[in-house]
Amino acid sequence: MIVIASDHGGYALKQELMAHLKEKGVEFEDIGTYSEASCNYPEYAERAARGVAEGKYEKGILVCGTGIGMSLAANKIPGIRCALLSDCFSAEMCRAHNNANMCALGGRVTGPELAKRMVDLFLTTEFLGGRHADPKVLVQMDTYAVGGIKPEQIHFLYAPTHLNPTYEYGVSFERGTYVDYGDRRQVFISGTA
Ligand code: RB5
Repeated sequence: MIVIASDHGGYALKQELMAHLKEKGVEFEDIGTYSEASCNYPEYAERAARGVAEGKYEKGILVCGTGIGMSLAANKIPGIRCALLSDCFSAEMCRAHNNANMCALGGRVTGPELAKRMVDLFLTTEFLGGRHADPKVLVQMDTYAVGGIKPEQIHFLYAPTHLNPTYEYGVSFERGTYVDYGDRRQVFISGTA
């Protein structure tokens, strides 16, 4: 199950994308907004992102006027890697190399046919793993997002496997301080935090 959300600026494109997903037999939940009346985009981005971070949805699609506001908001939720998309190569690479779990599109920027193609690539491209699954890389990216911790301070990180299975094989634990960022994310660091 995937989640799709928009604000008023992305409403029209979201309708097109939902028709496309239906046609493809992709199961999705539309969590709003449900009209072109002006609304607050971070609210919808956050709700969708929390659903993905908590494992309720496998992936998420966000649409606002430019895609920028909703991607910025979603990326503040720990565990979310939301890619702002405007070309097919990036739509593929954000999955293959970055293991993105959400994407954002601009309803006032991108035409419906390109948007559908990018969503297809986002939904069907597998994460390549290998060097892209190096826990250090992923840990650095995600911990910068949650706390600005320096990579050398990280000795072990645990995160729910639905967010990133590679964390299980993460860097080994050494003496350190336990920090809980909420959202079931735990980071062990040495020295001062
Ligand atoms: C709404 O007018 C617009 O600002 C919003 O859809 C989005 O583009 C923000 O980044």
